[in-house]
Amino acid sequence: MGVVDSLKWRYATKRFDSSKKISREDIEYLKEAVSLIPSSNGLQPYKVLIIEDKKLREKLREVSWGQPQITEASHLFVFCNFTEYGPEKVDSFIQLGADINNYPAESSRDYAESLKAQIGGSSASELSHWTAKQAYLALGSLITAASELNIDNCPMEGFLPQKYDEILGLKEKGMTAAVICALGYRSEEDKNRLLKKVRKPIEDLFDTI
Ligand SMILES: Cc1cc2nc3c(=O)[nH]c(=O)nc-3n(C[C@H](O)[C@H](O)[C@H](O)COP(=O)(O)O)c2cc1C
Repeated sequence: MGVVDSLKWRYATKRFDSSKKISREDIEYLKEAVSLIPSSNGLQPYKVLIIEDKKLREKLREVSWGQPQITEASHLFVFCNFTEYGPEKVDSFIQLGADINNYPAESSRDYAESLKAQIGGSSASELSHWTAKQAYLALGSLITAASELNIDNCPMEGFLPQKYDEILGLKEKGMTAAVICALGYRSEEDKNRLLKKVRKPIEDLFDTI
């Protein structure tokens, strides 16, 4: 299936068949799809936790309005955006680029300083807002790649980020839970699978100027 057909096939899955597991190989493909999505300046200011542990997911379900996807899905991806972005992170990003493309990190010093000034000049809320936006882009890539593999998915904001932060120890790591995505295979019991897609007409969504 091409991308459009895959996106027509997918829907926000409410009930997963918990007996079906995503293969290791497919998980590796999804990781690569998430990692290849671009981000502002290429900084990737987020981390993605892939949660398989059932006990942990039961705890998370309690702070996700009891939504069944959290425990029934094969895997739960938690996109955690950085709430702290110190100069050392810029330095290691610059070093990574220099190592991969084989040039001296020193040659990017002005760029590094401008990034540090830009990021350092943001308020905590501006920083978190900006890093969360980058994490949402990565979520889009996950949804698209999963759908391509006929892996059902449900992006979710229906959870308490502060509670996720506590349970997963994110605050200490300078991160917060931005958005999550349950992945697996639809259950026959999921009535949503029978619904038609609801989207605005294309002509309302776009204006060509
Ligand atoms: C950022 C985001 C958060 C969402 N949060 C939830 C959620 O907490 N629970 C849920 O069942 N669906 C959630 N959804 C699914 C949307 O309701 C669904 O994608 C939308 O209605 C379009 O339907 P479709 O995905 O079936 O095409 C969320 C979707 C997005 C993109």
